[in-house]
Amino acid sequence: MSYEEVAKQKFEALKTKKDVLILSVESSCDETSIALVKNGREVLSNIISSQIDIHKLYGGVVPEIASRNHIKNISGVLEEALNEAGKTLEDVDAVAVTYGAGLIGALLVGVNFAKTLAYALKVPLIAVSHVHGHIGANYISHKNLTPPFLCLMVSGGHTAIVQVEDYCSFKLLGMTVDDSVGECFDKVARVLGLYYPGGPNVERLAKNGEKKVKFNYHTPLPNSLDFSFSGLKTAVVNYVHNKEQKGEEFSKADVAMSFQELAIDELESKVAMAIKKVGAKKLVIAGGVGANKALRGRLEKTCKSLGVEMFAPDLKFCTDNAAMIGSIAYYYILAGIGLADLTLTASPVVPI
Ligand code: KG4
Ligand code: ZN
Repeated sequence: MSYEEVAKQKFEALKTKKDVLILSVESSCDETSIALVKNGREVLSNIISSQIDIHKLYGGVVPEIASRNHIKNISGVLEEALNEAGKTLEDVDAVAVTYGAGLIGALLVGVNFAKTLAYALKVPLIAVSHVHGHIGANYISHKNLTPPFLCLMVSGGHTAIVQVEDYCSFKLLGMTVDDSVGECFDKVARVLGLYYPGGPNVERLAKNGEKKVKFNYHTPLPNSLDFSFSGLKTAVVNYVHNKEQKGEEFSKADVAMSFQELAIDELESKVAMAIKKVGAKKLVIAGGVGANKALRGRLEKTCKSLGVEMFAPDLKFCTDNAAMIGSIAYYYILAGIGLADLTLTASPVVPI
Protein backbone atom coordinates (compact mmCIF):
# COMPACT_ATOMS: atom_id res chain seq x y z
CA MET A 1 0.00 0.00 0.00
CA SER A 2 1.17 3.54 -0.69
CA TYR A 3 1.84 5.98 2.15
CA GLU A 4 -1.37 7.86 1.25
CA GLU A 5 -3.50 4.72 1.51
CA VAL A 6 -2.00 3.69 4.85
CA ALA A 7 -2.38 7.23 6.21
CA LYS A 8 -6.03 7.39 5.14
CA GLN A 9 -6.83 4.07 6.81
CA LYS A 10 -5.08 5.07 10.02
CA PHE A 11 -6.79 8.49 9.95
CA GLU A 12 -10.22 6.82 9.86
CA ALA A 13 -9.22 4.43 12.64
CA LEU A 14 -8.09 7.29 14.92
CA LYS A 15 -11.68 8.59 15.13
CA THR A 16 -12.56 5.70 17.44
CA LYS A 17 -9.17 4.98 19.03
CA LYS A 18 -9.23 5.37 22.82
CA ASP A 19 -6.00 7.33 23.19
CA VAL A 20 -4.59 9.45 20.39
CA LEU A 21 -1.05 10.80 20.73
CA ILE A 22 -0.31 13.68 18.38
CA LEU A 23 3.13 15.08 17.69
CA SER A 24 2.62 18.70 16.63
CA VAL A 25 4.97 21.16 14.95
CA GLU A 26 4.73 24.96 14.95
CA SER A 27 7.13 27.26 13.09
CA SER A 28 4.94 30.05 11.68
CA CYS A 29 6.97 32.95 13.07
CA ASP A 30 9.97 33.06 15.41
CA GLU A 31 9.20 30.16 17.76
CA THR A 32 10.30 26.64 16.87
CA SER A 33 8.00 24.40 18.84
CA ILE A 34 7.14 20.72 19.04
CA ALA A 35 4.65 19.16 21.45
CA LEU A 36 3.18 15.78 22.33
CA VAL A 37 -0.51 16.04 23.13
CA LYS A 38 -2.85 13.24 24.20
CA ASN A 39 -6.53 13.35 23.27
CA GLY A 40 -6.44 17.08 22.56
CA ARG A 41 -6.30 18.13 26.19
CA GLU A 42 -3.29 16.58 27.91
CA VAL A 43 0.09 18.13 27.15
CA LEU A 44 2.91 15.62 27.69
CA SER A 45 5.53 18.06 26.45
CA ASN A 46 5.62 21.45 24.74
CA ILE A 47 9.12 22.58 23.85
CA ILE A 48 9.49 26.14 22.55
CA SER A 49 12.77 27.44 21.23
CA SER A 50 12.33 31.20 21.00
CA GLN A 51 14.39 33.41 18.71
CA ILE A 52 13.38 36.64 20.45
CA ASP A 53 16.95 37.49 21.49
CA ILE A 54 18.10 37.29 17.87
CA HIS A 55 15.24 39.32 16.32
CA LYS A 56 15.35 41.88 19.13
CA LEU A 57 18.58 43.19 17.58
CA TYR A 58 16.63 44.13 14.43
CA GLY A 59 13.51 45.55 16.11
CA GLY A 60 11.25 42.81 14.69
CA VAL A 61 11.23 39.36 13.09
CA VAL A 62 13.53 39.05 10.06
CA PRO A 63 11.87 36.28 7.99
CA GLU A 64 15.05 34.85 6.44
CA ILE A 65 16.80 34.66 9.81
CA ALA A 66 13.71 33.02 11.34
CA SER A 67 13.70 30.26 8.66
CA ARG A 68 17.41 29.54 9.08
CA ASN A 69 17.08 29.27 12.85
CA HIS A 70 14.08 26.94 12.58
CA ILE A 71 16.26 24.62 10.49
CA LYS A 72 19.04 24.82 13.06
CA ASN A 73 16.77 24.19 16.05
CA ILE A 74 14.05 21.81 14.95
CA SER A 75 15.79 18.43 15.37
CA GLY A 76 16.95 19.32 18.89
CA VAL A 77 13.45 20.52 19.78
CA LEU A 78 12.00 17.17 18.61
CA GLU A 79 14.46 15.21 20.72
CA GLU A 80 13.66 17.30 23.80
CA ALA A 81 9.90 16.98 23.23
CA LEU A 82 10.10 13.18 23.03
CA ASN A 83 12.39 12.95 26.06
CA GLU A 84 10.23 15.19 28.22
CA ALA A 85 7.10 13.23 27.30
CA GLY A 86 8.87 9.91 27.89
CA LYS A 87 7.77 8.75 24.42
CA THR A 88 9.43 7.48 21.26
CA LEU A 89 8.47 8.17 17.64
CA GLU A 90 6.85 4.71 17.52
CA ASP A 91 4.23 5.92 20.05
CA VAL A 92 3.04 8.73 17.76
CA ASP A 93 -0.41 8.25 16.13
CA ALA A 94 -0.37 11.35 13.90
CA VAL A 95 1.84 14.31 13.03
CA ALA A 96 0.15 17.74 12.97
CA VAL A 97 1.68 20.90 11.59
CA THR A 98 0.81 24.57 11.18
CA TYR A 99 0.62 25.11 7.41
CA GLY A 100 -0.50 28.78 7.66
CA ALA A 101 -0.96 31.62 8.35
CA GLY A 102 2.52 32.98 8.89
CA LEU A 103 5.89 33.65 7.31
CA ILE A 104 6.19 31.42 4.28
CA GLY A 105 9.84 30.43 4.71
CA ALA A 106 9.38 29.78 8.43
CA LEU A 107 6.24 27.69 7.82
CA LEU A 108 7.97 25.64 5.13
CA VAL A 109 10.57 24.40 7.60
CA GLY A 110 7.89 22.98 9.90
CA VAL A 111 5.79 21.63 7.02
CA ASN A 112 8.70 19.77 5.43
CA PHE A 113 9.88 18.43 8.78
CA ALA A 114 6.37 17.17 9.58
CA LYS A 115 5.92 15.63 6.12
CA THR A 116 9.19 13.73 6.49
CA LEU A 117 8.25 12.47 9.95
CA ALA A 118 4.75 11.41 8.91
CA TYR A 119 6.07 9.60 5.84
CA ALA A 120 8.85 7.83 7.76
CA LEU A 121 6.46 6.78 10.55
CA LYS A 122 3.62 5.93 8.14
CA VAL A 123 1.12 7.97 10.17
CA PRO A 124 -1.43 10.58 9.04
CA LEU A 125 -0.26 14.15 8.46
CA ILE A 126 -2.72 16.79 9.70
CA ALA A 127 -2.55 20.32 8.25
CA VAL A 128 -3.63 22.81 10.91
CA SER A 129 -4.58 26.48 10.71
CA HIS A 130 -2.57 28.56 13.17
CA VAL A 131 -5.67 30.59 13.99
CA HIS A 132 -7.62 27.46 14.96
CA GLY A 133 -4.60 26.46 17.04
CA HIS A 134 -4.88 29.62 19.13
CA ILE A 135 -8.48 28.66 19.92
CA GLY A 136 -7.28 25.13 20.79
CA ALA A 137 -5.01 26.60 23.49
CA ASN A 138 -8.16 27.09 25.55
CA TYR A 139 -9.04 23.38 25.51
CA ILE A 140 -5.70 22.70 27.21
CA SER A 141 -6.21 25.28 29.95
CA HIS A 142 -9.93 24.59 30.48
CA LYS A 143 -10.56 20.85 30.44
CA ASN A 144 -14.35 21.25 30.51
CA LEU A 145 -14.64 23.97 27.89
CA THR A 146 -16.78 22.92 24.93
CA PRO A 147 -18.26 24.85 21.98
CA PRO A 148 -20.42 26.74 21.17
CA PHE A 149 -18.79 30.00 22.24
CA LEU A 150 -17.77 33.39 20.95
CA CYS A 151 -14.05 33.91 20.40
CA LEU A 152 -12.02 37.10 20.41
CA MET A 153 -8.97 36.31 18.30
CA VAL A 154 -6.15 38.76 19.04
CA SER A 155 -2.77 37.74 17.66
CA GLY A 156 0.02 39.46 15.78
CA GLY A 157 -1.62 38.51 12.50
CA HIS A 158 -5.34 38.55 13.31
CA THR A 159 -7.94 40.57 15.13
CA ALA A 160 -11.37 39.03 14.75
CA ILE A 161 -14.56 37.93 16.44
CA VAL A 162 -15.39 34.35 15.57
CA GLN A 163 -18.48 32.37 16.42
CA VAL A 164 -17.24 28.86 17.22
CA GLU A 165 -20.33 26.73 16.61
CA ASP A 166 -18.51 23.42 17.05
CA TYR A 167 -14.87 22.33 17.43
CA CYS A 168 -14.31 22.71 13.70
CA SER A 169 -17.08 25.07 12.66
CA PHE A 170 -16.09 28.73 12.62
CA LYS A 171 -18.12 31.74 11.53
CA LEU A 172 -16.40 35.09 11.14
CA LEU A 173 -18.50 37.91 12.64
CA GLY A 174 -16.03 40.76 12.36
CA MET A 175 -12.37 41.46 11.72
CA THR A 176 -9.92 44.30 11.44
CA VAL A 177 -10.16 46.31 8.26
CA ASP A 178 -6.50 47.36 8.55
CA ASP A 179 -3.85 46.52 11.21
CA SER A 180 -4.16 43.82 13.83
CA VAL A 181 -4.12 44.94 17.46
CA GLY A 182 -0.84 43.04 17.95
CA GLU A 183 0.81 44.98 15.12
CA CYS A 184 -0.43 48.16 16.73
CA PHE A 185 1.15 47.23 20.10
CA ASP A 186 4.41 46.40 18.31
CA LYS A 187 4.45 49.70 16.41
CA VAL A 188 3.71 51.75 19.53
CA ALA A 189 6.50 49.87 21.32
CA ARG A 190 8.95 50.77 18.56
CA VAL A 191 8.06 54.47 18.57
CA LEU A 192 8.53 54.48 22.36
CA GLY A 193 11.95 52.87 21.96
CA LEU A 194 10.97 49.52 23.48
CA TYR A 195 12.37 46.17 22.41
CA TYR A 196 10.59 43.61 20.25
CA PRO A 197 8.17 41.94 21.01
CA GLY A 198 6.31 45.12 21.74
CA GLY A 199 3.13 43.94 23.43
CA PRO A 200 4.52 42.73 26.75
CA ASN A 201 6.84 45.76 26.97
CA VAL A 202 4.03 48.26 26.34
CA GLU A 203 1.97 46.48 29.01
CA ARG A 204 4.86 46.67 31.50
CA LEU A 205 5.44 50.39 30.83
CA ALA A 206 1.71 51.17 30.98
CA LYS A 207 1.61 49.96 34.59
CA ASN A 208 3.56 53.10 35.60
CA GLY A 209 1.41 55.45 33.55
CA GLU A 210 -1.94 57.18 33.66
CA LYS A 211 -4.66 57.38 31.07
CA LYS A 212 -4.39 61.11 30.46
CA VAL A 213 -2.83 61.63 27.03
CA LYS A 214 -5.27 63.00 24.45
CA PHE A 215 -4.43 61.66 20.99
CA ASN A 216 -5.91 63.16 17.83
CA TYR A 217 -8.17 60.14 17.35
CA HIS A 218 -11.84 59.29 16.88
CA THR A 219 -13.42 55.92 17.60
CA PRO A 220 -13.67 54.13 14.24
CA LEU A 221 -16.59 52.06 12.85
CA PRO A 222 -18.82 52.55 15.92
CA ASN A 223 -21.72 50.45 14.67
CA SER A 224 -19.81 47.57 13.11
CA LEU A 225 -18.32 44.35 14.45
CA ASP A 226 -15.24 45.11 12.35
CA PHE A 227 -12.23 46.70 14.00
CA SER A 228 -9.82 49.39 12.88
CA PHE A 229 -6.47 50.06 14.53
CA SER A 230 -4.50 52.07 11.98
CA GLY A 231 -6.02 55.40 13.11
CA LEU A 232 -5.00 54.77 16.71
CA LYS A 233 -1.54 53.64 15.65
CA THR A 234 -1.00 56.76 13.54
CA ALA A 235 -2.33 59.04 16.28
CA VAL A 236 0.15 57.63 18.83
CA VAL A 237 3.07 57.79 16.37
CA ASN A 238 2.19 61.40 15.44
CA TYR A 239 1.88 62.40 19.11
CA VAL A 240 5.32 61.02 19.97
CA HIS A 241 7.02 62.44 16.85
CA ASN A 242 5.43 65.84 17.48
CA LYS A 243 6.69 65.97 21.05
CA GLU A 244 10.15 64.86 19.98
CA GLN A 245 10.37 67.38 17.13
CA LYS A 246 9.34 70.24 19.42
CA GLY A 247 11.71 69.01 22.12
CA GLU A 248 8.83 68.84 24.61
CA GLU A 249 8.92 66.51 27.61
CA PHE A 250 6.31 63.75 27.77
CA SER A 251 5.69 60.61 29.78
CA LYS A 252 6.20 57.43 27.76
CA ALA A 253 4.38 55.50 30.47
CA ASP A 254 1.33 57.77 30.09
CA VAL A 255 1.43 57.27 26.31
CA ALA A 256 1.61 53.49 26.78
CA MET A 257 -1.26 53.47 29.28
CA SER A 258 -3.47 55.81 27.23
CA PHE A 259 -2.85 53.81 24.05
CA GLN A 260 -3.48 50.46 25.75
CA GLU A 261 -6.77 51.66 27.22
CA LEU A 262 -8.00 52.94 23.83
CA ALA A 263 -7.00 49.67 22.14
CA ILE A 264 -8.87 47.73 24.81
CA ASP A 265 -11.91 50.07 24.42
CA GLU A 266 -12.05 49.12 20.74
CA LEU A 267 -11.86 45.39 21.49
CA GLU A 268 -14.25 45.54 24.44
CA SER A 269 -16.99 47.52 22.70
CA LYS A 270 -17.07 45.13 19.71
CA VAL A 271 -17.02 42.06 21.95
CA ALA A 272 -19.95 43.41 23.97
CA MET A 273 -21.83 44.16 20.75
CA ALA A 274 -21.20 40.64 19.43
CA ILE A 275 -22.21 38.97 22.70
CA LYS A 276 -25.54 40.81 22.60
CA LYS A 277 -26.05 40.16 18.90
CA VAL A 278 -25.66 36.37 19.07
CA GLY A 279 -26.75 35.88 22.69
CA ALA A 280 -23.41 34.24 23.59
CA LYS A 281 -23.04 32.53 26.97
CA LYS A 282 -19.26 32.03 26.81
CA LEU A 283 -16.41 34.23 25.59
CA VAL A 284 -13.04 32.70 24.76
CA ILE A 285 -9.90 34.79 24.23
CA ALA A 286 -7.23 33.53 21.85
CA GLY A 287 -3.85 34.77 20.56
CA GLY A 288 -0.76 36.53 21.85
CA VAL A 289 -2.46 39.81 22.85
CA GLY A 290 -4.69 37.65 25.06
CA ALA A 291 -1.72 37.54 27.44
CA ASN A 292 -2.36 41.20 28.25
CA LYS A 293 -3.64 41.30 31.82
CA ALA A 294 -5.37 44.67 31.43
CA LEU A 295 -7.35 43.27 28.47
CA ARG A 296 -8.22 40.10 30.37
CA GLY A 297 -9.33 42.15 33.38
CA ARG A 298 -11.51 44.50 31.34
CA LEU A 299 -13.17 41.68 29.40
CA GLU A 300 -13.72 39.73 32.61
CA LYS A 301 -15.69 42.69 34.01
CA THR A 302 -17.67 43.16 30.79
CA CYS A 303 -18.54 39.47 30.68
CA LYS A 304 -19.60 39.48 34.31
CA SER A 305 -21.94 42.41 33.74
CA LEU A 306 -23.48 40.60 30.74
CA GLY A 307 -23.78 37.25 32.54
CA VAL A 308 -21.22 35.61 30.25
CA GLU A 309 -18.50 33.18 31.34
CA MET A 310 -15.01 34.15 30.16
CA PHE A 311 -12.14 31.80 29.31
CA ALA A 312 -8.54 32.61 28.40
CA PRO A 313 -5.56 30.31 28.01
CA ASP A 314 -2.86 30.12 30.69
CA LEU A 315 -0.33 32.81 29.78
CA LYS A 316 2.20 30.29 28.43
CA PHE A 317 -0.35 29.00 25.89
CA CYS A 318 -1.40 32.49 24.64
CA THR A 319 1.63 33.07 22.44
CA ASP A 320 2.83 30.66 19.76
CA ASN A 321 3.37 27.05 20.83
CA ALA A 322 2.92 23.59 19.33
CA ALA A 323 0.65 22.23 22.09
CA MET A 324 -2.26 24.35 20.83
CA ILE A 325 -1.74 22.88 17.34
CA GLY A 326 -1.81 19.34 18.77
CA SER A 327 -4.98 20.18 20.68
CA ILE A 328 -7.05 21.38 17.73
CA ALA A 329 -5.58 18.66 15.45
CA TYR A 330 -7.29 16.08 17.67
CA TYR A 331 -10.66 17.71 16.97
CA TYR A 332 -9.82 17.92 13.24
CA ILE A 333 -9.33 14.13 13.35
CA LEU A 334 -12.65 13.57 15.12
CA ALA A 335 -14.37 15.80 12.54
CA GLY A 336 -12.61 13.99 9.68
CA ILE A 337 -10.85 17.08 8.34
CA GLY A 338 -7.24 18.21 7.83
CA LEU A 339 -5.74 14.99 6.43
CA ALA A 340 -2.94 16.14 4.12
CA ASP A 341 -0.77 14.28 1.65
CA LEU A 342 2.87 14.80 0.77
CA THR A 343 2.02 17.68 -1.59
CA LEU A 344 1.16 19.84 1.43
CA THR A 345 2.75 23.26 1.23
CA ALA A 346 2.75 26.37 3.39
CA SER A 347 0.30 29.22 3.00
CA PRO A 348 0.94 32.80 4.22
CA VAL A 349 -2.79 33.44 4.63
CA VAL A 350 -5.58 31.03 5.58
CA PRO A 351 -9.30 31.74 5.86
CA ILE A 352 -10.79 31.60 9.38
O1 KG4 B 1 -0.38 34.96 18.70
P1 KG4 B 1 1.00 35.48 18.64
O2 KG4 B 1 2.03 34.91 19.57
O3 KG4 B 1 1.60 35.35 17.19
C1 KG4 B 1 0.81 35.47 16.05
O4 KG4 B 1 0.12 34.49 15.71
O5 KG4 B 1 0.86 36.57 15.46
O6 KG4 B 1 0.88 37.04 18.87
C2 KG4 B 1 1.98 37.89 18.87
C3 KG4 B 1 1.49 39.29 19.19
C4 KG4 B 1 2.60 40.32 19.08
O7 KG4 B 1 2.09 41.42 18.36
C5 KG4 B 1 2.87 40.67 20.53
O8 KG4 B 1 3.36 41.97 20.71
C6 KG4 B 1 1.50 40.49 21.16
O9 KG4 B 1 1.00 39.32 20.55
N1 KG4 B 1 1.54 40.30 22.61
C7 KG4 B 1 1.00 41.17 23.50
C8 KG4 B 1 1.31 40.68 24.79
N2 KG4 B 1 2.02 39.51 24.64
C9 KG4 B 1 2.15 39.31 23.30
N3 KG4 B 1 0.29 42.30 23.30
C10 KG4 B 1 -0.11 42.97 24.39
N4 KG4 B 1 0.15 42.58 25.65
C11 KG4 B 1 0.86 41.45 25.90
N5 KG4 B 1 1.11 41.07 27.15
ZN1 ZN C 1 0.12 33.01 16.81
